Amino acid sequence: QIAQKVRTQNLGQVLTEAATFYKQQLREHPHAIAYLKRRGLSGDIAQRFGLGFAPFEPTLSSVFDDYNESSSLLDAGLCKQREGQNRRYDFFRERIMFPIRNTKGQIIGFGGRVLDKSEPKYLNSPETPLFQKGQELYGLFEARSAISQQQYALIVEGYMDVVALAQAGLANAVATLGTATSTAHVQKLFRFTDTIVFSFDGDSAGRKAAWRAMINALPLATDTRTIKFLFLPPEHDPDTFVREKGADAFAAEVQTAMTLSQFLLFGLNQAAPDGSAEARARQLHLAKPLLQSLPNGALRTHIIQALAAQLNSTPSDVSEYCELNAALRP
Ligand code: UTP
Ligand code: MN
Ligand code: MN
Ligand code: MN
Ligand code: MN
Repeated sequence: QIAQKVRTQNLGQVLTEAATFYKQQLREHPHAIAYLKRRGLSGDIAQRFGLGFAPFEPTLSSVFDDYNESSSLLDAGLCKQREGQNRRYDFFRERIMFPIRNTKGQIIGFGGRVLDKSEPKYLNSPETPLFQKGQELYGLFEARSAISQQQYALIVEGYMDVVALAQAGLANAVATLGTATSTAHVQKLFRFTDTIVFSFDGDSAGRKAAWRAMINALPLATDTRTIKFLFLPPEHDPDTFVREKGADAFAAEVQTAMTLSQFLLFGLNQAAPDGSAEARARQLHLAKPLLQSLPNGALRTHIIQALAAQLNSTPSDVSEYCELNAALRP
């Protein structure tokens, strides 16, 4: 256990030193600075998020040449070594680096974006004892005070969305790390606010991700909390929207965002819209696990009523079909 503690301490230290190295390299690579400028980011915001650059040369491995340090680089996932070979090479090369912090502000990993159209567009640090993607939200440390000030948090898809929104004055956004929004993510964010607004990309992938996020958020949708969904035009993500239309336009979108109950009912209807008996049965079938995930409360009662109306049914029939009898469900 002590060995484990020493290991994670080393890990934390090497990640911090790497972040310092990447920041310094950004200052020394005008083409990387030019990329951030092209994306509309100021030096001030780059500094606030600790953005950096991992160049082709010098490599992190060459700078951390001490044996112990370079082992930590492997542990931190910043370096790779091929089976049966001594040579170590950097995991991130020629990428803009976004340090990922935990809620204490400690760096636990990185996201790295290419400067051109090559693939993969983003790489994320592999998971380590310090870094579990299903738990962490990019930007949460930086967003904490804005979240309590604004009394709501935004969940967006990407690093750039978080940074661009913050630059526009909407500093209360966080992002998942290339993974679906988990129940643990939502739980974590609800420690800071009781209102969460999902604002994913307007494309079909973003809309599908919103539906999955809703399913994972359902167990946490108690009556004292608010969960909303903001759907941007298909060609936009929060970054492009806020840059093109401004912070006020984005805030206006937040005001008109769909509630969880609206989205749920709308999504069910879209899945089987034709009003036939078969379509209504299908909606009920799809609704069953969703209603079962919802905490037993006033919100669930109202959703059951609205669904019954949508299906030309009755709340008690819906409850019965979905096996929501509270007495039978401890
Ligand atoms: P997007 O493709 O929407 O990228 O992926 P983006 O955030 O808008 O990036 P820019 O504006 O082109 O710079 C959303 C998120 O999905 C993850 C990243 O976390 C990204 O921010 N992702 C995407 C990856 O992990 N790997 C990829 O190759 C692409
Ligand atoms: Mn260079
Ligand atoms: Mn996208
Ligand atoms: Mn995007
Ligand atoms: Mn984008």
